[in-house]
This record gives sequence, C-alpha cells and structure tokens, in this order.
Amino acid sequence: MRTDYCGNITEKFLDKKVTLYGWAHRRRDHGGVVFIDLRDREGLVQVVINPDNKQAFTIAEKIRNEFVLKIEGVVKSRPEGTQNQDLATGKIEVVVDSLEILNASKTPPFMLDNYHEVGEEARLKYRYLDLRRPEMAKKIHLRAKVSQYFRNFLDSNGFLDIETPFLTKATPEGARDYLVPSRTFPGNFFALPQSPQLFKQILMMAGFDRYYQIVRCFRDEDLRADRQPEFTQLDIETSFLDEFEIMAIMEEMISGLFKTLLNVELPTPFIKMPYDEAMRRFGLDKPDLRIPLELVDIADLVKTSDFKVFSQAANDPKGRVVVLKVPQGGKLSRKEIDDYTNYVSIYGAKGLAYIKVNDVSQGAQGCQSPIVKFLGDTIVNALLKQINAQDGDMLFFGAGDSAIVSESMGSLRVKIGLDLNLVNAAWQPLWVVDFPMFAYNPKEKRFEAQHHPFTAPNTNDPEEIKANPEKLYSRAYDMVLNGMEVGGGSVRINNPQMQQCIFDILGINPEQAKEKFGFLLEALEYGCPPHGGLAFGVDRLVMLMTNSTSIRDVIAFPKTQTASCMMTNAPSTVDPQQLKELGVKIAEVSPGK
Ligand code: AMO
Ligand code: AMP
Repeated sequence: MRTDYCGNITEKFLDKKVTLYGWAHRRRDHGGVVFIDLRDREGLVQVVINPDNKQAFTIAEKIRNEFVLKIEGVVKSRPEGTQNQDLATGKIEVVVDSLEILNASKTPPFMLDNYHEVGEEARLKYRYLDLRRPEMAKKIHLRAKVSQYFRNFLDSNGFLDIETPFLTKATPEGARDYLVPSRTFPGNFFALPQSPQLFKQILMMAGFDRYYQIVRCFRDEDLRADRQPEFTQLDIETSFLDEFEIMAIMEEMISGLFKTLLNVELPTPFIKMPYDEAMRRFGLDKPDLRIPLELVDIADLVKTSDFKVFSQAANDPKGRVVVLKVPQGGKLSRKEIDDYTNYVSIYGAKGLAYIKVNDVSQGAQGCQSPIVKFLGDTIVNALLKQINAQDGDMLFFGAGDSAIVSESMGSLRVKIGLDLNLVNAAWQPLWVVDFPMFAYNPKEKRFEAQHHPFTAPNTNDPEEIKANPEKLYSRAYDMVLNGMEVGGGSVRINNPQMQQCIFDILGINPEQAKEKFGFLLEALEYGCPPHGGLAFGVDRLVMLMTNSTSIRDVIAFPKTQTASCMMTNAPSTVDPQQLKELGVKIAEVSPGK
C-alpha cells in the first residue's frame, strides 16, 4: 500500500520509511548514483539509488522516462548545496531500499518537462501524458476544489442539487444546437441543452425554491480562447428573491471562493455598473477595470470639422467618435501603431487615427499626427484641454458605426493596457446591470434577446414594451472579472401574457411559441412564483484562478478550435446500419477534419 503521495513529502517525514508509487519523470546518472524524479498527481520527489544496493541499482539502470515504479525507502535530508528551493519536496530525498518496475513506457512523443516546443495538437492527442505534467495536474486539482467549494456553499445555503435532461428540446441561448437523432421517432431529433434554463424555471414552478447544478452545456458556436462547444456551468435558480438579493448571495459565494482557495480578498461590494456606462467608458459590456484608461466621446467637438471621417460619424445618430488617451504612449513606434491599426481592423474599424502629444504648452503645434492639419488648430486645442493631455501622451481615435467603434476601441484599450503593463490591480470584479432588453440584428432585420427570451423587462406594461422595444431595459445582470464575463442571469418573466408579448417582439408567433415552449407557457399558468437566477462559467472561473490563457488548459479533455477531439478522433463516421436504424441519410460528405 502507498504510504504517501510523492509531492507531499517534506522535512516532516525525515527518517520515515515510505512506500511510493509513481512515474519516472526524469532519470539522472551521477557517477554511479542514480537519481529519479518520481512523480504522482501531487508532485515530484527525488529518489536516490546507491550502487551498494545492487538489486535496486540493476533495476534502476533499466528505468526510462514514464516507467511506472514502486519504491520503498527512507526520507533523508539532501546534502548541503543540493537543495532545490523551487520544489516543495526540494529539501529532502528518498533513499531507496527496494525498487520495482510495475510497467514500462514507450519513449513519450514529447518531454513532459519541455513541452513548450510541442504543438497543442500533440498535447491533445496524448492528453493522458499532458495531464501528467504537474502544471496541468494542479489546474485539474484546483478545478475539483472549485466544484467542492460551490457544493459546500450552496448546500449550506439551502440550494438543492437537481439534475435535468441532456436529451431534450432546444433551449435557446443564441448558439446553434447539437442535435441527436431519435431511433424511436425516426426523423425527430433531441437537442442537447445550451443551458438548463427552461428546466430550472420549471423546477421553481415545481416549488423547489433554491436549485443548483454543476452541469455540462452544449453550444455549437465559433470557438475562441474562452469558449468550448461543451462547457460547464454552475447553474442556479431561486424563487422569491429580487435581482439585488440574488447578486448579494452570489457575490458572497464568489468572494468566498477566492478567499478560500487563493487567499485573495476581492474588493467588495462589487461595483454595479449600468450597461450604457460600461459601453460609454470602456466600449465593452465586460470592462476590464484593472486598466486605468477610458474612452472619451468627442462627437460634439468634431461635428463641424473638415475631417470627414470624424464629422460624418459625429453627425450620424448611429455613429460614434472617441479618443483613447494613453499616458506616455508617445513612445510607441511606427510599427506598434501599425500593429494596433491592424488590430482594430479585425473588429471592422476602417483606421486608427492618432496624435502624439510632444509639447502640450504649444497646443496643436506641439502635436505630431497625420490628422492635425485636417482637424484644425482650434479643435485640437479644445481636445487637448478636454482630455487634459500631457507631454508624451498618445491619443488614438475611432470614428464610424457606434457598435464597431465601441468594440474595436474597447478591445484596443484592453490590448494596450496589457501590452504596456498598465494593469493596476490583480482582481477587479463588477456587476454589469441594466442591460437593454433587445439587440437589433440589422442583417436579419429583427430583434434578438440580449440575454434570453425568458428575461423580465424592467416594466410590467406591455404597451410600453411594444411602443419602444429598442429603449427597453431588462432585469439582467452579468458578473465580470478582469474583463471576462464569468456569469450572467436575470429575473424571469413569470406570467404567460408578458412572455408572449416578448415572443411577439422577437418574432415568435403564438403557434411557434406553443410548439417550442408550450410546456413553459402552460406551467406559467399554474401558480408560478417570482423567480430568477444565473449561471457561472466554471471553466472561465478556473481559467482566471489558474492564470491560464486558454480554456482548454482547465478542461481534462477539451475540444479543438474546430470542435473535434484529437484523442478519440470524434466526431467520426458511423456504421451505415446505425444510420439506417435512425432513419438518417447523409446527403453529402463534408471534406472531413
Ligand atoms: P449565459 O449564456 O450567459 O447564460 O451563460 C452563462 C455563463 O456561461 C459561460 N459560457 C461559456 N463558457 C465556455 N464556453 C462557452 N461556449 C460558454 N458560453 C457561456 C459564461 C457565461 O457567463 N441560462 C443562462 C443563465 C441564466 O439566465 O440563469 C445562460 O446560460 O461564463
Ligand atoms: P485617411 O484619410 O483615410 O488616410 O486617414 C487618415 C488617418 O485617419 C489615418 O491615420 C487613418 O488610420 C485614420 N482613420 C481612417 N478612418 C478612420 C476611422 N474610421 N476611425 C479612426 N481613424 C480613422
């Protein structure tokens, strides 16, 4: 039987006899003495095999990386000068009495301690090897602790863990559904849930009052560094609480999470920032408040300018003109400015005008820029004054369609803040509140729900809603941490008339509503309590807590950017017989993976 994990052995174990099981992380031959770094899920420990232990020494010579070993030995201090401060077990070593090879290993396709040169494809294909790396094991570990913390917190606050189906009807959250063909009803499909939204609302109608679930959600959407096609939500719903009460409990839970697992004190209470303010000051609905830069609207200043790019946007009701002041940004090189211009173009920006402020006491004359001559001295001088420009500042400008300017300049703000190391706090959480109820989709010429169609508007008057949907706000809230949306939810609609009114605006007529959500509309008629909730992205939280740059690093078996699994090779073709049973015919074969 194992007595201890390798990674847990410290000076407290001196002279203790231990039995360890693990993998040979590295083997070194030092003039007759063999050292093995033995590794298990908790970490590494150095194991020493002296030549006078002939039996063990003969075996040790056969050991290669990733062999599975059993070791019995005694914990000793490492000799002076050979201690390793970087390792938790760095002050000790285990002197081997007996050694057994439990299994051999082929030479791994990559070195576990030198994986940086390995492409992610190889890491995902041989995920079991990648997960053996202590860095990865640590992340998976923390993730388990996060789930455990949530369960403890929610259980002790009266929340019940209730499972909801995966084989179900579409639950709209704005992405495409993953479909599963039914064998018993050929031609019919289940949809995998994009979230348990409808079921958790139904659970409130069933009287369960406080629900939670750590649950997989499925969304067939374009993948990014913080998105996976299947991801995990901590999904929560409550009855009889308003948005402020819900936010208060959740804030307590998240600040407790950081305190318990990272010993981090998040600044509480979390700021509550209206959506409009977030867009105005930061250009994004998930502002990174660690970065002390803000967008400033200057449409009023440039309305009459001869510089058409600015004046046209300034006079367009759907346009926006902003400046982003970067203190000491005057040092940026021509190449860096070009790179930032390319960066904003990803978001559809047509250019990135700039002014370098060399000597503010000379006003426009003290500025260096391709646009000063178009803007004119009067406007430039007023601008410098309005934004309190200082010598050495760089001013970046965005002009054009409001949505594009906000997103491109908001993203640029974050990029510059990170590039120039302007981050002035480790953690900045906030709630974004007062979201618009609808977003207009100009391509499809219709309104879409900004959160989801079950979110309550902040008025109970259907006439007011119908008169001016664009101006309507909802009772939704998002939790944002360091520029990432980690959770979001809302108070829900709890009567069928209001639900149909919102469906009407979304272009879902009563027949379609009945077909898609008839069960919900019906349930709303049988004594539905006021209710609301939210869901956290567990993967994203763990990403932030482990300082990971990719969501794939905190998921044991993630999918690639093209939503496939390198290890199992899923998705794959299936037996024609299986398709026949399901009544499915393949119309055309896709080019494949
Ligand atoms: P929403 O769609 O905002 O809300 O999702 C909640 C949280 O889940 C995370 N998330 C994702 N994480 C990884 N990959 C994805 N593809 C992905 N999509 C979302 C985000 C997000 O904040 N039913 C509602 C919640 C509610 O109203 O109660 C919902 O699903 O961190
Ligand atoms: P142009 O007159 O197109 O050569 O542009 C002059 C300067 O304005 C260049 O620095 C462009 O990058 C910048 N510019 C062009 N379009 C925009 C825009 N929509 N927003 C901000 N800057 C722009």
